[in-house]
Amino acid sequence: MPLTTVLFAGLAVGIPCLVVALERAQARAYGVPPVPSLPWLRRNVVRALRRHAPAARKIAELGSGWGGLAFALAQAFPAAQVTGFELSGLPYGFAQARAMIGPPRNIKFRKADFLTQDLSDYDVAVCYLLPRVLRDVPGRLPAGCLLVAAGFPLKGVTPQDQIGGPLFSVYIYKIPS
Ligand SMILES: C[S@@+](CC[C@H](N)C(=O)[O-])C[C@H]1O[C@@H](n2cnc3c(N)ncnc32)[C@H](O)[C@@H]1O
Repeated sequence: MPLTTVLFAGLAVGIPCLVVALERAQARAYGVPPVPSLPWLRRNVVRALRRHAPAARKIAELGSGWGGLAFALAQAFPAAQVTGFELSGLPYGFAQARAMIGPPRNIKFRKADFLTQDLSDYDVAVCYLLPRVLRDVPGRLPAGCLLVAAGFPLKGVTPQDQIGGPLFSVYIYKIPS
């Protein structure tokens, strides 16, 4: 068998294995795998913002992963500044590289734990997080901030609105004063 065929076959198997291994390592390290949201869920997040925060000024994407949801928001709300916060290096680096190439221009990423960040200037926060991570989010947000939780609701808190069917629901909350 020619060497190039062996090399290509090695890469074709090796790269997906490496990505899966890195995702598993991240899931062990941070408790949340960087599973990207699906387009239907992203569309419902955009619909939620169109309904509840059409003039959003600063949008935080908490746990932005590979950046897909943050880019969808930056494209849908060109007048807003979108900041993605992501702990894990590989998805953060990918999203940051895509943002540097642009468009859109109204997006940036920070490699940071959003639980330790000053989020007091954000009027909208969006996330796609497991309930055990999501439960700490409201305490980090300023009064009046709109929280759009994709996929999973906040346990024990009634949302002010819900968009989407059982598979791709997003839950909308207003942080009380
Ligand atoms: C399910 S993924 C969501 C990805 C992205 N929001 C999307 O919709 O495509 C959740 C991400 O949250 C990140 N994450 C979890 N806790 C975090 C924290 N405290 N600070 C920053 N990122 C966090 C994980 O590393 C993971 O990439």
